[in-house]
Amino acid sequence: MATKLVAPSILSADFANLEKELKAIAAAGADWVHVDVMDGHFVPNITIGIPVVRALKKVSSLPLDVHLMIEKPERYIEDFVKAGSDYLTIHVEATDKPREVLRKIRSLGARAGLTLRPGTPIEEILPLLDEVDLVLVMTVEPGFGGQSFLHDQVEKIKQLKVVRMQKNLNYLIEVDGGVNDKTVNACCDADVLVAGSYIFNGDYTKTIGLLKS
Ligand code: DX5
Ligand code: ZN
Repeated sequence: MATKLVAPSILSADFANLEKELKAIAAAGADWVHVDVMDGHFVPNITIGIPVVRALKKVSSLPLDVHLMIEKPERYIEDFVKAGSDYLTIHVEATDKPREVLRKIRSLGARAGLTLRPGTPIEEILPLLDEVDLVLVMTVEPGFGGQSFLHDQVEKIKQLKVVRMQKNLNYLIEVDGGVNDKTVNACCDADVLVAGSYIFNGDYTKTIGLLKS
C-alpha cells in the first residue's frame, strides 16, 4: 500500500499560535495543511477567511489545502487562490455551476477539488470528475471538528477509486472527518488523510506517523 499524505486540519490547532503550529506539524511529517473555511450559512459554524489563508501562506512550507464550506463559492475563488491556496475544494451542493467554478480554479493556477456532504449521492459528482485534481469524501457532516467517523461513507472512497481506474483519471482521493488510529484502516483506498482533533490533541509526530503507516 502506498504511503498516505497527511493533511492536519488546523481547525483543532491553537489559533493564537498558528505559525508555531504549522512549523510543528511540518517537523512532525505533515504533507499538507488543511484549512477549513466556514461561512455560517452553508454550515452553522464560522471559522476563518481570506486574510488568514494569506497569513498562513507566508509562514507555511507545506501546500495549503483549502476546504470551502461556503455558499456560492464562485464569489471568492479568485481571492482564495490569490491568497495562496494550492488546492481549493468546493462543495457540489454550494453552487449551481460547479463545472464553471472548478474550471475557474484551474485557470487561476490552483488545483481544483470537489466534495459532497455525507447525505449527497456520489452520482452528483460523477459527471464532474474530469474537471478535478482532488475529490474529498466527507466522513462527518461538515461544520465541526471532533465528530465520529461515518463508516457508511467508505463505499464512496471505493467507488471513486474504481471510477478513476475505469475512466483513466488521476484525481487524488482525500478523506475528512473522524480520522484517527481506530478509523484509518477504513480509509485504505484514500490517498490523503485529513485529521484535526486526533493530531492536535496528541503527540504530532506519533499521530502523523501512525496515519502514514
Ligand atoms: C469538518 C472539517 C474537518 C474537521 C476534521 O467540517 O471539514 O476538516 O476539521 O476534524 P476531525 O479530524 O476532528 O474530525
Ligand atoms: Zn475539512
